[in-house]
Amino acid sequence: MSQGSGEHQLKYMFYPKSVAVIGASRKPGKIGHEILRNLIEYGYPGKIYPVNPSADEILGLKCYKSVLEIPDEVDLAVISVPAKFVPEVLEQCGKKGVKAVAVISAGFGEIGNVDLERKIVEIARKYNMRLLGPNIFGLVYTPSKLNASFGPRDVLPGNIAFISQSGALGIALMGWTILEEIGLSAVVSVGNKADIEDADLLEFFGKDEHTKVILIYMEGVKDGRKFMKVAREVSKRKPIVVIKAGRSERGAKAAASHTGSLAGSDRVYDAAFKQCGVLRANNFEEAFDWARALAILPPPSGENVVIITNGGGAGVLATDACEAYGLKLLEMPKDLEDKFRKYMPAFGSPHNPIDLTGQASEEQYKGALLEALNEPRIHSIILLYCQTIITDPEALADAIIEAYTQAKVKKPIVVNFVGGVECDRAMRKMEKAGIPTYPTPERAVSALAALHRWARYAGYIKQT
Ligand code: ACO
Repeated sequence: MSQGSGEHQLKYMFYPKSVAVIGASRKPGKIGHEILRNLIEYGYPGKIYPVNPSADEILGLKCYKSVLEIPDEVDLAVISVPAKFVPEVLEQCGKKGVKAVAVISAGFGEIGNVDLERKIVEIARKYNMRLLGPNIFGLVYTPSKLNASFGPRDVLPGNIAFISQSGALGIALMGWTILEEIGLSAVVSVGNKADIEDADLLEFFGKDEHTKVILIYMEGVKDGRKFMKVAREVSKRKPIVVIKAGRSERGAKAAASHTGSLAGSDRVYDAAFKQCGVLRANNFEEAFDWARALAILPPPSGENVVIITNGGGAGVLATDACEAYGLKLLEMPKDLEDKFRKYMPAFGSPHNPIDLTGQASEEQYKGALLEALNEPRIHSIILLYCQTIITDPEALADAIIEAYTQAKVKKPIVVNFVGGVECDRAMRKMEKAGIPTYPTPERAVSALAALHRWARYAGYIKQT
């Protein structure tokens, strides 16, 4: 059982006033050295104390022989010494009054050293310290400019908290979010979850003003009941997206030997997630697609969706995807058809999908979009564009952004542009303006469907 109030104690982990790096190596390329470098270069504004018995100074900072020699309080200690030395170092941290520790070192429960793992948890509890790990790559919290990890440095600030049970995948995804320009509030490597587990982090991020969505890669949960209890409550306020690996029998066996997780029956996980409003993604592409939409869009107030397109084919694919993902397309009332007819040639279609045709101009897109945004019977919008020589993608992006900012009511919109580099540039522009964009109609629909599922669970869409 975890100790103390998670929320109270975890604040030292994410808002530390000072950080000690124990095992801060003098040698570039070693883990303890790179964690120290990340802390400094990511711009952590608090005090940083390297600890190494054989060094006087590392990376321009005065070095201490032991944490006990530090003349100041230490909120967080990041421990990067070989596993066998961790108990002794933890005892020193406890005596020093350190509030939270992140144990990077591997060589505990994951290789059968269960007793050593139990011992470090006992020491942490004796001194009322919360312990992250062991067997982790560290943690990042962008609002505190804290990068206490040996992952990529330039994590972009945003409001998605990403929790990973897998080390290598977690580090890889950190880099990938930078490439994809996805902003994060936090990256937390949970490793063996000897003390701090998913439920503790859900409690913390559930109340964290900088986090809008919580995304977890997990192979198993330690305490299923606790996870469900907390997830059920947090999901009502914030969406939780989970990639639960080990769907297949062989995948479950692989998870068991990777992190020692007892995968349990996948159907049990599936049912439990549904019950507590957790959105289960099949893979990380889907998870981040959903998280981006969930992080920036307002929840829909009803089920009615419209598709606006200049290409019949894209409209049909999106219609199929709406059926597959459980989104309800609005049966277009006659008066609305007449309104949309104003923005298309005679051979266009004002039904749903609203097909503005291949000759649609930016103005026609803008007019139709504003109509949909201001229409109370429409709750969400899927906007598609197939690149033509008639409409410049970047000018269209500007028109969409203008319509979205001018609209009287904020409602969810997802956008898909299909085409060349100009489309890519246009989509990045819309992303920056707070409109989530996707490279295929299906991915746009899937993200909107996740938002609708969450809005149903959280009560924004009233069930009839
Ligand atoms: N207090 C402070 N510093 C100490 C102490 C101590 N008690 N004991 C040793 N040190 C110093 C060492 O002198 C050394 O500094 P130096 O290089 O300047 O001499 C430094 O601490 C590190 O100690 P080393 O013995 O050199 O250990 P090393 O850096 O090789 O390894 C580590 C330590 C990284 C913790 C290693 O044991 C380990 O567990 N590696 C795996 C980490 C990992 O994979 N975690 C999961 C990540 S997720 C994923 O899979 C990607």
